[in-house]
Amino acid sequence: MRVLVVGSGGREDALVWGLARSPQTSALFAAPGNPGMARHAECVPLKVDALEDLVAFAQRERIDLTVVGPELPLILGIADRFQARGLAIFGPTREASALEGSKVFAKQLMAKHGIPTARFETFQEAGAARRFARRLGAPLVVKADGPAAGKGAMVCRTLGEADRAIALCLEERAFGQSGEQIVVEEFLVGEEASFFALTDGEGALFLGTAQDHKTVFDDDRGPNTGGMGAYSPAPIVDEQLGAQVMKTIVRPTVGAMAAEGRPYRGVIYAGLMLTRPGPKVLEFNCRFGDPEHQVIMVRLQDDLLPLLYAVARGEKLPTAVRWRPEAAVCVVLASGGYPGPYQTGKAIAGVEEAERLPGVTVFHAGTALSDDQLVTAGGRVLGVTALGADIPVAIGKAYEAVGKICFEGIHFRKDIGKKALARLSR
Ligand code: AMP
Ligand code: GLY
Repeated sequence: MRVLVVGSGGREDALVWGLARSPQTSALFAAPGNPGMARHAECVPLKVDALEDLVAFAQRERIDLTVVGPELPLILGIADRFQARGLAIFGPTREASALEGSKVFAKQLMAKHGIPTARFETFQEAGAARRFARRLGAPLVVKADGPAAGKGAMVCRTLGEADRAIALCLEERAFGQSGEQIVVEEFLVGEEASFFALTDGEGALFLGTAQDHKTVFDDDRGPNTGGMGAYSPAPIVDEQLGAQVMKTIVRPTVGAMAAEGRPYRGVIYAGLMLTRPGPKVLEFNCRFGDPEHQVIMVRLQDDLLPLLYAVARGEKLPTAVRWRPEAAVCVVLASGGYPGPYQTGKAIAGVEEAERLPGVTVFHAGTALSDDQLVTAGGRVLGVTALGADIPVAIGKAYEAVGKICFEGIHFRKDIGKKALARLSR
């Protein structure tokens, strides 16, 4: 099978890594890809939002399956365009991607179909939003409806902060169209987990759990990032809780999307808050997680390709996948200053040495080649991912590998997996 992966981050490098191992893959392309992906795939200089160019490439190269990494092309309707040309693509249609693309849509869907989530109302007018905020009381959360580069969810500790967040969206229009509507919702208390399932539009297949580390500094301090590290499986989600999430959240969501005339085929990434009364949805994403997919990918024993192809074709999925027995940990190496402004073009050393350690894979995110020298080219640069007998062993191996890599300004969290350790020792 000739396969194209769309994207250029650590998640897409992990997808390429997984697809390259499939005996069914005969040719592998990445658009635009990165130097990590170039180890297994031919990189083609097409941007992820150049939808017509991507379709033309897939037609010209007789691509059998296109796998979309990031949400942007999905929300723009890449799947619709490919399907209209009879091309198989992994990722939901534009209408189905609203599950991530519009928080108002997702919340209303959950309310209508009884899927557990924080109590909320949606608003276009600031006065009404402020009145509801007072009914809820602080702390509470204000969310811009549309994509906002990870800055659209504002946890407000006081009503004053809530008023400012509401004004930012609805009066100052800081998020443009994305903030023309907002969700104001109850603050949920608990531990967060990322939950993944594949769906062919009818059935759903559990595809693992992970826990992300969203803030830039240790002990969950500092501003939010795309994710500074992850581990999988999430020990907090035991078999019983996993089955509960499939039954009360994932399957009802697949059914609800079909009932709304937006059949959903792809991966459902549910960001969960595990509250005392049970798991509740914080948000849905219509794509794999980054860095979560890096830790899930290395744990997956089954071939990824037939699973993604079945989803793309709307064919029946197996009832379960097989996992390797080990746990996985990923430590993200970032450019100093990220998620604020940072410098690029810094020479990176030690990647090969790190990968010589058994069980270690270094996925590339923001890297580039400059005269044959690997250099930094983004905020999140590398995802150092290790398999180990259990999470403590995997943590040790990941940090041993991190110790081999250096570039000017390197920044990473030292506490990836600490939360899992606390849980495992209980
Ligand atoms: P979201 O983009 O909706 O996933 O929100 C980003 C982050 O904000 C989440 O990972 C949580 O840490 C936090 N958050 C969002 N909604 C809530 C909520 N209702 N209660 C508590 N924390 C929340
Ligand atoms: N790591 C969070 C995300 O992929 O959205």
